Amino acid sequence: MRRILLFLLFITPAVLSHAITDPYICVNTDNTCIILHINEDNRLMFMHYGLKVGDTGQYTGYNSYRRIDYGTDPMAYPTRGGRFYNEPALSVKYSDNDVNTELEYISHTISDIRPGVTQTSIIMQDPKTSLEVRLVYISYSKEDVIVAHTEITNKGNKEVTLENYASSAINIKAGKYLLTHFHGAWASEMQLAQEVLTHGTKIIDNKMGVRTTHTENPSFLLSLDTENFNENHGEVIAGALAWSGNYKLAFQVDEFERLSILCGINPYNSTYPLRKGQTFTTPDMIWTFSSAGAGQASRNLHNWARNYGIYSKGKMAPTLLNSWEGAYFDFTTPVLTGMIDDAANMGLEMFVLDDGWFGTDFPRNSNQQGLGDWQLNTKKIPEGISYLADYAHHKGLKFGIWIEPEMVNPKSNLARKHPEWVVKSEGRQVTTTRNQWILDLCNPQVQDFVFNVFDETMKLAINKIDYIKWDCNRHVESLGSAYLKNQSEFYINYIQGLYSVLKRIREKYPNVIVQSCSSGGGRVDYGALGYFDEVWTSDNTEGLSRIFIQYGTNMIYPACTTGSHVSAVPSHQTNNVTPLKFRFDIAAAGRLGMELQPKAMTTEEYQFAQKAIASYRTYRDLVENGDLYRLISPYDGNHYALMYVSKDKNRAVVFAYCIKYQGRTKTPLVRMYGLDKNKSYKVTELNTTAPSFWGDTKTFSGEWLINQGMNPQLVKLYDSGIWYLQAE
Ligand code: DGJ
Repeated sequence: MRRILLFLLFITPAVLSHAITDPYICVNTDNTCIILHINEDNRLMFMHYGLKVGDTGQYTGYNSYRRIDYGTDPMAYPTRGGRFYNEPALSVKYSDNDVNTELEYISHTISDIRPGVTQTSIIMQDPKTSLEVRLVYISYSKEDVIVAHTEITNKGNKEVTLENYASSAINIKAGKYLLTHFHGAWASEMQLAQEVLTHGTKIIDNKMGVRTTHTENPSFLLSLDTENFNENHGEVIAGALAWSGNYKLAFQVDEFERLSILCGINPYNSTYPLRKGQTFTTPDMIWTFSSAGAGQASRNLHNWARNYGIYSKGKMAPTLLNSWEGAYFDFTTPVLTGMIDDAANMGLEMFVLDDGWFGTDFPRNSNQQGLGDWQLNTKKIPEGISYLADYAHHKGLKFGIWIEPEMVNPKSNLARKHPEWVVKSEGRQVTTTRNQWILDLCNPQVQDFVFNVFDETMKLAINKIDYIKWDCNRHVESLGSAYLKNQSEFYINYIQGLYSVLKRIREKYPNVIVQSCSSGGGRVDYGALGYFDEVWTSDNTEGLSRIFIQYGTNMIYPACTTGSHVSAVPSHQTNNVTPLKFRFDIAAAGRLGMELQPKAMTTEEYQFAQKAIASYRTYRDLVENGDLYRLISPYDGNHYALMYVSKDKNRAVVFAYCIKYQGRTKTPLVRMYGLDKNKSYKVTELNTTAPSFWGDTKTFSGEWLINQGMNPQLVKLYDSGIWYLQAE
């Protein structure tokens, strides 16, 4: 093989020069690197992920002291086969029943994609079967983020079956591994779960097909050499998979105390045939490494997301009033125009008409019927959507509307006309959830239909619809596609079908703001965010629940993506009654909106809302584009506090909340780690006439605010405050 490489060197010097002169491949960011090694057997081995190590020449003579006849050193992309016996990234079955794959290094290239972004692409091949694997790492220097994916090409003559095909693998060694991941359910998404990994394999996965992020999220943080989660200190790896379907993240601590992490599509009922010449491209896996605690790991992901990862790229979001919790299905034009009037009076910037506006033969007056029939219900809105959009625009508001194009109610014309479009297994009962079925997005005709739902909705008010809320309210059961021959392709083809529709939509409507909603936070992932501007973080809009949901979600996804609305009390989800100020103060830590009937507010509440919205608009840029510092964890006791700081550290906004009564004298200590210790800041509390901090409107040094900290008198349950900091 070495001789072949030398021969090839003469014909393609640019491609192979790295391989011949240096057996180490470094994927670098400003502070971190992945180092891979082409060993004597031409295998690509994983050496390091972490802070930079300097000259790779220092590895010369490296010895892992493993027995060479037992236990393979960590591979860059471990395959089932040869001596490897742990969880593989790739398992393939070949036509002759061989189940082994042993990849050998062929070549690699390193190229600059744009300033600060470099692509390293490594080709390997199984010599027996000619299966080719291309590992692609795109490194984002400033953000310290590396995005990895894998391309698997069948260069043999016969079809092969992919059984397991992870996006990316890393392998590290530390004394302890504290895994932070997210679990939940509808209305309680992204709750923190933390555990020190022990020997064996911990798996975080989802098999629900769509709406895959209520229960777990394809993301995590991993604190190294500690049992304690620390925001500001220590080494932390964070990862997130950009895929909206079934996923699997596997963490295996082996007998050498090394941790192998494999992330990718869940192989659950997903053996994938790869025909001769065909390539399968896995989703992206986003990695970051921080040596300054979990806070920096989140900020790295957020910076990457705003610069590259999310459709909106950090574009400012309009504040809004959504009709759902204020009107549900029960509205007519005057109800909606009344809401638009109030939204404008309160200083909001957009009105969004939620579910219930469509269905003629089966009017959508409840969730029992009408999904699929996207014709306007003229009994409710005889004047048309265009009229409502104009009405909003004349009041200075943008206008948005809700759709759920992937779904159908059995009671609809669509279900009667196209029963073959429904996901179902012939001869079995077709289950409903929320009285609805799923349309089979594997089928190109359904893809066209879904595209047209968006397109036709936009045409209801040409050039007047500024925002679409795209909902998705059930997961996959009774799996079956009338279109597919091989049902094990369903889970993948569905999501690829969804992404291809979204791509078409984005080509036609690049500037419409589109929200990914899926019964709240059921589709919160970086795959979706490549097409959507924001997510509906949760259907739970109650203030206390929102603290935990937003705390978890914003560990991975920046606040510029997380919609957060003020709703009425008692909460429709939890029955809890919290003060309006508390509800505003938590909603204002994300993309602020309201979701209630303003006519039901008292004059005092209305006036408070006007002030809170006006003040939000003065610091919104910090929430959306500033650096997030988590100051007090809501899991640690009585309080929660966070801050967003401008990149130049001249402005900041601080939020703090009392979430548990423990005694009148138990004030929080809010140490503002995000500030510059050499600057001075004027501290002003917003949205109150009774400041809770004795130093209100005084100027403090950054050093004082970081090292001494503010002790606001937030001691009663649901006391809360927002402070604006301006460097002087
Ligand atoms: C579920 C969403 O999460 C809600 O916000 C609302 O849009 C309803 N669907 C409408 O049916």
